[in-house]
Amino acid sequence: MKRTKLKIHRQGIIMPFVKTFLLSFFLLLSVLSAGISYAAGDAKHPKQMHWAFDGFFGAFDRASIQRGFQVYKQVCSSCHSMHLKSYRNLTQIGFSEDEVKAIAAEYMVMDGPDDSGDMFERPGRPSDRFVSPYPNEKAARASNGGAYPPDLSLITKARVDGPNYVYSLLTGYEDAAEDVNLRPGQYYNPYMPGGKIAMPPQLSDGLVEYMDGTEATEGQIARDVVNFLQWAAEPEMEARKQMGHKAILFALILTILFYFSKKRIWSNLSQKD
Ligand code: HEC
Repeated sequence: MKRTKLKIHRQGIIMPFVKTFLLSFFLLLSVLSAGISYAAGDAKHPKQMHWAFDGFFGAFDRASIQRGFQVYKQVCSSCHSMHLKSYRNLTQIGFSEDEVKAIAAEYMVMDGPDDSGDMFERPGRPSDRFVSPYPNEKAARASNGGAYPPDLSLITKARVDGPNYVYSLLTGYEDAAEDVNLRPGQYYNPYMPGGKIAMPPQLSDGLVEYMDGTEATEGQIARDVVNFLQWAAEPEMEARKQMGHKAILFALILTILFYFSKKRIWSNLSQKD
């Protein structure tokens, strides 16, 4: 009698538990699979490159970032803004203050209003944001067949697997298969969700002439501009990683101290007691 009672009781506890477990398992499964199909989309998986900034000890490759800035300046900046960056930020990647002043002064910046209430143009200063190629989104769309070249300040963070994605996109243009219908001004790129992109292919061997003498192959140019965009999106990365190194070192020292103090505290208790 007692036994059966216990059995019933047990079932009463176990069944709701099993049900909840199964329910949360399936919920988790559906959420995860939704995430995976979202990430995969219908686009090709980006090429997996090796980057200097990868991993726990990853750091920025400043020479490459400087070359990448040259690529952005000479190529991408005619269509893409980077409105979160100021010229003075370039000192972080190794440009001197005089070099930054000279770079900023190459641009004309709208300022004002002056004493008579008029806006006026003046040469850029290090504290100015990067000058945008278009005055607004409508002007940008009008010049690009209706498509909007997105701001590149945070692009490597705004896309899944950002650095590899941007690298693959820039180097991944292909001739469209026969069953793909491209409108005028559209290009086939399997890394772009949907496969169609309104940005013409940008890179080719020898497109820029690097000031440091590095050979400007298409792959090198793509690598450099991605290094630049990754720095732009997360300039605090090195400080963040260094903080992690310190935290782990601290935890390690603390562990050793705790180990010895534990040994000492328990040392008067022998097992025979
Ligand atoms: C002639 C103008 C033009 C130039 C130059 C240009 N782009 Fe673009 N870019 C566009 C347009 C337009 C789009 C939007 C494409 C679309 O939505 O179909 C775009 C989109 C992009 C995207 C976003 C794709 C996405 O996932 O939405 C990235 C990244 C990008 N460009 C990077 C670059 C880089 C890096 C350079 C310099 C090497 C560059 N672009 C030069 C016009 C340009």
